[in-house]
Amino acid sequence: MTLPRIVIERCQYLARCTKEPDAITRPFASEAMRCAHDSVGEWMREAGMDVRRDNIGNLRGRFEGAGETTLMLGSHLDSVRDAGKYDGPLGVIVAIAAVQRLHDAGKRLPFAIDVLAFADEEGLRFGSTYLGSRAVAGTFDPADLDRTDGDGITMRDAIRAFGGDPERIVDDRWQGGELLGYCEVHIEQGPVLEARNLPVGVVSAIAGQERHQLTFTGVAAHAGTTPIDKRRDALVAASVFVQAVEDYAGREGLVATVGQLSVKPGAANVIPGEVTLSLDVRHADDALRLIATRRLLDIAAEIAKHRRMGLKTNQMSEEATVLCSQRLVSRLSQAVRDIGLPVVELASGAGHDAVAMSALTEVGMLFVRCKGGVSHNPAESVKTEDVAVAIDVLSRFLDLLAN
Ligand code: GLV
Ligand code: MN
Ligand code: MN
Repeated sequence: MTLPRIVIERCQYLARCTKEPDAITRPFASEAMRCAHDSVGEWMREAGMDVRRDNIGNLRGRFEGAGETTLMLGSHLDSVRDAGKYDGPLGVIVAIAAVQRLHDAGKRLPFAIDVLAFADEEGLRFGSTYLGSRAVAGTFDPADLDRTDGDGITMRDAIRAFGGDPERIVDDRWQGGELLGYCEVHIEQGPVLEARNLPVGVVSAIAGQERHQLTFTGVAAHAGTTPIDKRRDALVAASVFVQAVEDYAGREGLVATVGQLSVKPGAANVIPGEVTLSLDVRHADDALRLIATRRLLDIAAEIAKHRRMGLKTNQMSEEATVLCSQRLVSRLSQAVRDIGLPVVELASGAGHDAVAMSALTEVGMLFVRCKGGVSHNPAESVKTEDVAVAIDVLSRFLDLLAN
């Protein structure tokens, strides 16, 4: 079997590592993640790497080089709920494939390669982002250890149950000397490459984003006896807000999404007394994003006031826009040209571990075309020919860095 085909089959094989039977759902520090580590660790070893798991739960493979410096490659192994097969795993497995090529050729580069399979990019379990890459970058916030998941388990206990020591996450920080940068291969998750009829593109920047949790509190009451004009229905308030978010977003490159909604008490014959929802806001211009979020939170407050509701808001995360390093962008672009393809540079609307890694070292990313631009959906699909191009570009990129 060819290496690109192996990459696709490995991504498909990891789909069996899931918390939910008929879907791919692989949360941070879960049994499903342990299952993924078993396979990915094996593939890393086959490619000649030494493998270890750190305290936060990243799987780290190291391919020694002839010199003192290190280049980092990687992406994440966690997923959203009911995910596709490629968001995250593709980048890890393409990186392993590039190392496999070196290993098979008996080749050593003047630098070592660390392949990082990150523990939590999506934040599904704890509403966090980039737990794994933050630990490596040295920006993990110990206050996050008190966060709880949907079952009331703290992050501290989850890490312990997975085999890590939550008090020693500082030890996960990169301590191996000079770095040449971090490069991540990832599916595009958008329509640009398909529209341009190109298999890969070089990422110029990753848009900033922030996430908030909002809780509207009204009054739970009897669905049969409470007249409409006497109700304080938290779900109706939330619905008005969801519509307002869509009306406001869409202007000038802004996107905003309500993706989670929890209704209490959640019974057919009870007027909803409390609704908690998520708000995700993104823009490549940080100043515009901040203005937009302030306006959206004001709108929520106006709705709550008008409907005599309580409103609590809580910021869950914030990431500024990150520019990819000119040095890595130019090497990646050269690698694309060297294999005979035109270079397209594009910005990422999705967040990536490269964002957290930018606090540690220069970052670069290569996007791979995906069918219809569809992602965060089981229909995610990538062509074997495009994976072949990604491996070739990454291999050429390694050569360029080596010379
Ligand atoms: C990560 O997939 C994100 O939400 O951008
Ligand atoms: Mn994702
Ligand atoms: Mn991803």
